[in-house]
Amino acid sequence: MFLPLELTVLYILHAQLVRSQQTALQLTLNSLHTFNASSLPKVPSFALPSSSSELSVSVALCSAEATPPRFFVTNDSSISDPSADDLGNVDVFEISLDDGSGSWTGAVPNGGYFAVSNAGQTPFEVGVSDGGPMHQLLDNLPLLGDTTLNEVLLFSPPFSPSPPVDPPTYPNYTLPAANTSFPVGPTTPPNVTLYVSPTSASSLVTMPRTGCAMRASNVAGSFNLGANKSEGIWLRDASEGWRWQWLVGGLTPLTNYTVYAIVDETKVSEPINFVTKSASFVCPIVHSLPYCPTVNYAVPIAPPPFPFTAHATNTLPNTVVDPLLQVLTNFTVSLTTFACGRDQYSPLVSCADCQQAYRNWLCAVWFPRCSEAAPESGSDSQKPMSALQAQAPSATPRSPGLSPISSSYDVLLPCLETCTAADRACPNFLGFKCPITRFNAADSYGVGYVDSGADGVQGGGIAGTAQDRYGNVWCNQT
Ligand SMILES: *[C@@H]1O[C@H](CO)[C@@H](O)[C@H](O)[C@H]1NC(C)=O
Ligand SMILES: *[C@@H]1O[C@H](CO)[C@@H](O)[C@H](O)[C@H]1NC(C)=O
Ligand SMILES: *[C@@H]1O[C@H](CO)[C@@H](O)[C@H](O)[C@H]1NC(C)=O
Ligand SMILES: *[C@@H]1O[C@H](CO)[C@@H](O)[C@H](O)[C@H]1NC(C)=O
Ligand SMILES: *[C@@H]1O[C@H](CO)[C@@H](O)[C@H](O)[C@H]1NC(C)=O
Ligand SMILES: *[C@@H]1O[C@H](CO)[C@@H](O)[C@H](O)[C@H]1NC(C)=O
Ligand SMILES: *[C@@H]1O[C@H](CO)[C@@H](O)[C@H](O)[C@H]1NC(C)=O
Ligand SMILES: *[C@@H]1O[C@H](CO)[C@@H](O)[C@H](O)[C@H]1NC(C)=O
Repeated sequence: MFLPLELTVLYILHAQLVRSQQTALQLTLNSLHTFNASSLPKVPSFALPSSSSELSVSVALCSAEATPPRFFVTNDSSISDPSADDLGNVDVFEISLDDGSGSWTGAVPNGGYFAVSNAGQTPFEVGVSDGGPMHQLLDNLPLLGDTTLNEVLLFSPPFSPSPPVDPPTYPNYTLPAANTSFPVGPTTPPNVTLYVSPTSASSLVTMPRTGCAMRASNVAGSFNLGANKSEGIWLRDASEGWRWQWLVGGLTPLTNYTVYAIVDETKVSEPINFVTKSASFVCPIVHSLPYCPTVNYAVPIAPPPFPFTAHATNTLPNTVVDPLLQVLTNFTVSLTTFACGRDQYSPLVSCADCQQAYRNWLCAVWFPRCSEAAPESGSDSQKPMSALQAQAPSATPRSPGLSPISSSYDVLLPCLETCTAADRACPNFLGFKCPITRFNAADSYGVGYVDSGADGVQGGGIAGTAQDRYGNVWCNQT
């Protein structure tokens, strides 16, 4: 049989159309697909798997683009290349982008399509998932431990609460040993990466807030920190949960850096800032002490031996640690002369709470924190001043556990709340007392930052917090 030429052409075109529909690449469930200008098919449309549960289709741009591509999803399986022209159809949706990523979640019982228009040169990722959008903006934050002139100690957002431990009971009311050990941590912690960049980099402003953009970033001075560069996981605060911990060197003094946490390669936290100290800063970081889990900051102590760049249990002298553990042991012995678990000294707190709060306070006092006045921001004269106290060279240290160091430095006083927490949690007979605000509290504590400073009043301080996400640290809260 011979067909007229026009019909033949139509037939071939139709066959090609059918083929393009039939062979549209399938986006597989729960995996990530990356495309760029050269790897996109001519008709940039992809089939979605059908699913009995709701599917999420999410996208992330991997570089900045003045005119970003547009992304469309349909759960109508007869629309094989959804575009802006189809938006009148109730089953066609545009994925709008926020900071470079976006998602659509809905029912796809009979399959559907995902399509891109104005693709340009921007590489992008697509993920189809039945467990919520693979790409997400998280509203949790990484946490700054502290900085030196060229190092920073950073934590991921917390990811796994510590399972509650059964409180001890009378008559065998056993409190954790002074040299306590951690509970067993999660065996498969989530993959978290930190992206660190100098804040002043202008391309940081336009960079999409996506994991693939941060991995591909070539901002000068920026870097990614994966689990393999971490110090492992750390239970800084059992009520918050486990975090990854990183100690990083090679930074530039007096520089403001921006940090994002990227969870599972695709979910990105809000940013925090930190500022490195000046080149004359002498104090090394002390971290990873199980008996003082909240000591993650610079301490006026001699530097650790080469090749270590910070102190941990393996480098801290026994002359510092042994008396600390003895004080805590003796305190615990005195505390348990009370019939803990049988009698109550308060309806709100227990001997275990008292030991915990005392440990925090003791660690803050035993390990004073070094800091510096924030570099003049000029514009921001409303900013409160940190609770700094200058120490002369070779001055007797504030801590009974430390020896003098030959340089001068500024101590960042503990927040008064560290003391009042122990005062509130412990029975009166132990005689634990905090200085009174209106007399001399400000000689030894940061007063009025978290709480207002009026005796017995909680909240209402000038900063409302001991440290903020922008890299300001007002007083030392352990
Ligand atoms: C585009 O993607 C392909 C396949 O994933 C890859 O081989 C190629 O290097 C990418 N090109 C660019 C410019 O990123
Ligand atoms: C497409 O998804 C929307 C939103 O979930 C839903 O209301 C609609 O019923 C779905 N259409 C089909 C054909 O499943
Ligand atoms: C008391 O409790 C501790 C820790 O919970 C336990 O190791 C010890 O065996 C107990 N002692 C007695 C006498 O029950
Ligand atoms: C604390 O306990 C660990 C083992 O749990 C031990 O290796 C370490 O030497 C102890 N530290 C001190 C100062 O006693
Ligand atoms: C973390 O990433 C590694 C390598 O990319 C992968 O093998 C592992 O399964 C991931 N772990 C989790 C919990 O996602
Ligand atoms: C750490 O992991 C990153 C990303 O998974 C990899 O590129 C790098 O080579 C690893 N580094 C080391 C020292 O194993
Ligand atoms: C702890 O108690 C022991 C025994 O009562 C005592 O010898 C020691 O001096 C005390 N240590 C401290 C630091 O109070
Ligand atoms: C760091 O830079 C950010 C952005 O400019 C700013 O908001 C923040 O206050 C700076 N941090 C400090 C401690 O100066």
